[in-house]
Amino acid sequence: MSGGLYVVRLGSSERMDRLLRYALEGREVTFLPPDGLSCGLYEARILFAVAVDALGVEESFLRTLRLLRGNGDCLRGSTAAVIVDGSDELYTKSAAQELVLSANMAGCTFLGKPLVEGTGSLYNQHILARRLDLSWEETYFTRARDLVSRLLAYEPLRFDNPRVLMIHASDNKRSNTVWLGRELLARLPENFISREISLQNGTIHDCRGCSYAACLHFAQSDTCFYGGAISQEVLPAIRDCDAMLFLCPNYNDAVSANIMALFNRMTNLLVQQELTDKYLFGVVVSGYSGSDLVARQLMGALCFNKTVTLPAQFCMMETAHDPGSAKQLGGVETRLDRFAAHMTSILQK
Ligand SMILES: Cc1cc2nc3c(=O)[nH]c(=O)nc-3n(C[C@H](O)[C@H](O)[C@H](O)COP(=O)(O)O)c2cc1C
Repeated sequence: MSGGLYVVRLGSSERMDRLLRYALEGREVTFLPPDGLSCGLYEARILFAVAVDALGVEESFLRTLRLLRGNGDCLRGSTAAVIVDGSDELYTKSAAQELVLSANMAGCTFLGKPLVEGTGSLYNQHILARRLDLSWEETYFTRARDLVSRLLAYEPLRFDNPRVLMIHASDNKRSNTVWLGRELLARLPENFISREISLQNGTIHDCRGCSYAACLHFAQSDTCFYGGAISQEVLPAIRDCDAMLFLCPNYNDAVSANIMALFNRMTNLLVQQELTDKYLFGVVVSGYSGSDLVARQLMGALCFNKTVTLPAQFCMMETAHDPGSAKQLGGVETRLDRFAAHMTSILQK
């Protein structure tokens, strides 16, 4: 593949035309029709430029999802970012999440904070616009241009002794997710340094939503309004790791409350440093269905919002209901072997 940038446009809008002209100025760019992905796009830098209207995504978007899902690892080795332009206040984020998960499963890495979105009103730009002293549209376009620069400059990190932090919220000795997670850690090479942290029930306060200044003030003393285990143990462990492995049972088609509270409390770390130098992995188990929803939530919170890098095929998803039943799933040992080898290939220098 060439050293330039591939742009895949899904849907169109007049504002997206202007944004792309601004963001891509001076770049070597190849525009690909959506169906162009069917032959595979390997080791490339890809910008997905999606326009949604008041009714949501259009047909080329849906065709692309099906193509990504039906063509194995057709984006193997590629790295991507996304711009979504909306004509209304809805559907921008959900479109981005659905596209990113499908592209990730097709072998594509995503930068930490890979999404620039413009809602119809561009109100979602107002805080940064005030800080930069720009109009909302100028802020949106500037973000898009910065995203292109970050995408082209991205270099994957590898580690001599990768430090993997496994995080879960289970105290159930027969937890399916914890069994899978421990089996993965046991399969990693000896030079990996792994650590397990459990967020036990009852010790976690959700984020209080302090002002940015108050959060930063607390963070500079390595604490937050609530302090406790999250401030003293969990956030420092995240700061010190190279990769996080989140174990997420499906609770009502979402991550459990303690995991969600941790996502929210991670703002306290983010006010001090970005987390782009860390990779995100996940294990999701559903009793019936819906693992993709939970994986999207994990990816949205940590990669879109909290700047963690999303490696290709970041998540292992299984379906197992009864306590302890994951170990009886047909082929699970092979899938564990493969996922641990995959983690190793991403992290190992
Ligand atoms: C409170 C609660 C809510 C759940 N909600 C769902 C659900 O919405 N969909 C689903 O497929 N499974 C659901 N389950 C089943 C779990 O996802 C499943 O049992 C999983 O294996 C649990 O993983 P664990 O053993 O690591 O806790 C739910 C379980 C609990 C306890």
